[in-house]
Amino acid sequence: MKRIEKVGEMDSEARRLVADGKSIGFVPTMGFLHEGHLALAGEARKENDVVVMSIFVNPAQFGPGEDFESYPRNLERDAALAEKAGVDILFHPSPEDMYPENSSIRILPGRQADVLCGASRPGHFDGVLKVLTKLFHLTRPERAYFGQKDAQQLAIIETFVRDYNFPLEIRRIPTVREKDGLAKSSRNVRLTAQERKDAPAIYASLREGARVLRETGDTELALGTVRGSLGSIPGAETDYAEILEYPSLRPLSAESREAIIAAAVRFSGVRLIDNILVPLERKTSC
Ligand code: PAF
Repeated sequence: MKRIEKVGEMDSEARRLVADGKSIGFVPTMGFLHEGHLALAGEARKENDVVVMSIFVNPAQFGPGEDFESYPRNLERDAALAEKAGVDILFHPSPEDMYPENSSIRILPGRQADVLCGASRPGHFDGVLKVLTKLFHLTRPERAYFGQKDAQQLAIIETFVRDYNFPLEIRRIPTVREKDGLAKSSRNVRLTAQERKDAPAIYASLREGARVLRETGDTELALGTVRGSLGSIPGAETDYAEILEYPSLRPLSAESREAIIAAAVRFSGVRLIDNILVPLERKTSC
């Protein structure tokens, strides 16, 4: 596996690969890899000649007081895992090289970013689109791989890539979970032992809400179930719990084909997100 630190080197390497007729599969990450990232790399390995993974804790997507500094990092461990997963090029630039100057151009995601994480983390998705614009240009992928766990991010990126004709395909990869249902996340290592025991209740709450939604078609009842159940997790504070249409992230309507039940829950020092998608029949009442 080749390791590239410099933006210029990544650019020339990707140009060379494309000129040689190679397809590039791109897996953008912020590192501290877990099975969720490795599943993205696994899919990329199957579908492309060359797999590029980036590891970059992107300062532009963290707000003041968020966990940019304490975000877990371990490049050597990540490099070993990436190599084992079949990654060909690991791109790990420095913030100074990625953002040599504060660009006066901003990229704004629009309506899909006004809800869920976008509402509680203002500017977060601006930062995600900013870094991905650079990373897509630098790595020139035919396909880029994103986990369904970050469902809002995925929906916004799909819209961005479609609306602005980025020449690549976005591939959606299902959430990878621990045996007890907790969605794999780099932040899970920062839970206390007790919080780790309690955290699977997030997914259990979403599943209970999905069951109610499927059985009754009653969005309010389903949402009440999820919020009630999240509210009873000891030591956890619900940041949000919502049911929306997916991937538009508009309120559900009689025309909606798929709903997302999404939640963000805060334990002492860690904010976790999770979601579940529920295919809908037209009977849903709103
Ligand atoms: O999902 C993430 O890890 C990040 O938001 C991403 C897509 C790598 C952009 O920094």
